[in-house]
Amino acid sequence: MIEVKNIDNYIKKIAESIANEIKLKQENDQNLVLGLATGSTPIPLYDELVRLHEQENLSFYNVFTFNLDEYCGLDKSDPNSYQYFMDEKLFNRIDIPKENTHVPNGQVKSGIEVEYCKDYEQKINDLGGIDIQILGIGRSGHIGFNEPGSSVNSITRKVELHEITRKDASRDFNGIENVPTHAITMGMQTILSAKRIFFMAFGEAKREITKLAFTKEVTDNVPASHLQNHKQLTICTDFII
Ligand code: F6R
Repeated sequence: MIEVKNIDNYIKKIAESIANEIKLKQENDQNLVLGLATGSTPIPLYDELVRLHEQENLSFYNVFTFNLDEYCGLDKSDPNSYQYFMDEKLFNRIDIPKENTHVPNGQVKSGIEVEYCKDYEQKINDLGGIDIQILGIGRSGHIGFNEPGSSVNSITRKVELHEITRKDASRDFNGIENVPTHAITMGMQTILSAKRIFFMAFGEAKREITKLAFTKEVTDNVPASHLQNHKQLTICTDFII
């Protein structure tokens, strides 16, 4: 499904879909599993979910979350860490049980990373998989931190960040030399297994790569292009692709 609307409309629509699913699961005594992204794109969505919680009594008691990725080497108290971002933007502002939230640990000891990543996958699978996945796109074509060349069969793992990705993050880190070189990311297979995906790309800087991802061939060189094969995908852009 491709639609072009203004950002506010998308945000309202996505938040409403998430809220409806949460309530439906509550009525049936079930949990909802959300796959979450960081970065600037989903911030208005998290604000809207917080508003629904504060003003419309939406409870997150039955929600489990799994974040897409985390920079390697950053402590969770580091303002540039995705754990910090999620706490600030969402988790600390709603009633989700903290133990239900998962962000990959960027400080996992070397030597046990593979085991750690397998465990992250297992936790998602044990909860029945991701019901709703929120995605942005990087200018390298990445989703999560699955950079060009990532296999469609990849699972959660440690990866090297693309130069464009590090360049785009350099402002937050006060210079590219301070941007971590590696991250832990959910895999392509993990993401594509989500039952429903909301993909968001806003702003001119995302137009070219989004067009490449959705109007050209499906290829590991543009990881986001694999979304073309997802059955329950909503593409939200504020430009025509
Ligand atoms: C973040 C993530 C990335 C971002 C992408 C876009 O958890 O997985 O794929 O979604 O880099 O970032 P923004 O939204 O900052 O342009």
